[in-house]
Amino acid sequence: MIDVALVVGGATLVAGVAGSLAAARLPTLRLQLAALGLVSVVLPLAAVTLSGVLMFRSDHDLTILAVAAASALAAVGGALLLGRRILARLEALREASARVAAGDLGARAPETPPAELAEVGRGFNEMAGAVERLFDARRQLVAGASHDLRTPLAALQAMVEAMQDGVAPPERYLGAVAEQVQVLAGRVDDLFELARIDAGALSLELREADLGAVVATCVRGAQAQADARRVALSAHVEPGAPPVRFDPREMERVLQNLLANALRHTPADGTVAVRLGPAEDGVWVSVEDTGEGIPEEALGQVFERFWRGDPARVRDPRSGDGAGLGLAIARGLVEAHGGRIWAENRPGGGARVTFTLPAAG
Ligand SMILES: Nc1ncnc2c1ncn2[C@@H]1O[C@H](COP(=O)(O)OP(=O)(O)O)[C@@H](O)[C@H]1O
Ligand SMILES: [Mg+2]
Repeated sequence: MIDVALVVGGATLVAGVAGSLAAARLPTLRLQLAALGLVSVVLPLAAVTLSGVLMFRSDHDLTILAVAAASALAAVGGALLLGRRILARLEALREASARVAAGDLGARAPETPPAELAEVGRGFNEMAGAVERLFDARRQLVAGASHDLRTPLAALQAMVEAMQDGVAPPERYLGAVAEQVQVLAGRVDDLFELARIDAGALSLELREADLGAVVATCVRGAQAQADARRVALSAHVEPGAPPVRFDPREMERVLQNLLANALRHTPADGTVAVRLGPAEDGVWVSVEDTGEGIPEEALGQVFERFWRGDPARVRDPRSGDGAGLGLAIARGLVEAHGGRIWAENRPGGGARVTFTLPAAG
């Protein structure tokens, strides 16, 4: 009797494993679930029936068979129903991905239970959101870039034409032409930098260097511009700042952008100060001025690319007037260093832009 039981048990096990393996090879999820339901019900019942026949010569074979058939049917029905629901969800996901692939970047997948599928939906939606943001940024970049390159190009074109027509002697326009070429070069450079930041292609050459020295260099570099505007420019380095790792060239760029803004917005006889000190877990650097400050509602926007306080203002290239990319680049570079940057207004008037860099190690 024990032998029979062992044989039946062993055979059930083998049949079960074989059945499951076969079910897993079926081409669709629906079939797999149905087959699994079938195996899980038919197999134990078959085993019980077989044992009954072999061991007890039971009269209830027919009853048992009927129960087996009904259970199997119920299991298959349940599996098919479940399969349908899962498939419908997968279909919705497939549809969303097809729409995104076809260019409808706003398409999203459902995030409703069951939990695993909700998780997949969320993951997909996050990815679609990132792609959408990237495309938006690119569209904005292209639109802004063409606009900002067109302005100096139009000026150049007008001046060159005037010279060609002999309307004005070349000497008169040469300085202005050089200026516009410089503006154009600066714009292209900014756009290139921003594209590098966007693409994640910034390869920072991180070194443990003296940030105070970089501050001093930038302040020296801006001194002539400050003198021309009769603005007092100074640097203050507080002791106790931990060593930081940074790319000196890129940090110079951040500081130059902040200094250019501060100087441009500070009236004659004002002051611009660069300060450096120890932060909670790193270093902070701030550039503050005594200019008109930044409107409270714009404090969060100034770091957006192409955002300018007064877009209608006629731009004077000599004043360092940019295309609204200076702070966007500064933020991209600071964040690539693992730091943070923000703008605020000083209680006494004027703006202060501060960034932090994490301590080395
Ligand atoms: N120190 C500052 N004082 C007042 N406004 C500022 C200052 N720095 C930046 N802003 C505002 O933020 C805007 C964006 O700055 P930025 O990205 O450097 O672009 P841009 O200098 O080309 O205008 C500026 O147009 C200006 O309105
Ligand atoms: Mg600027």
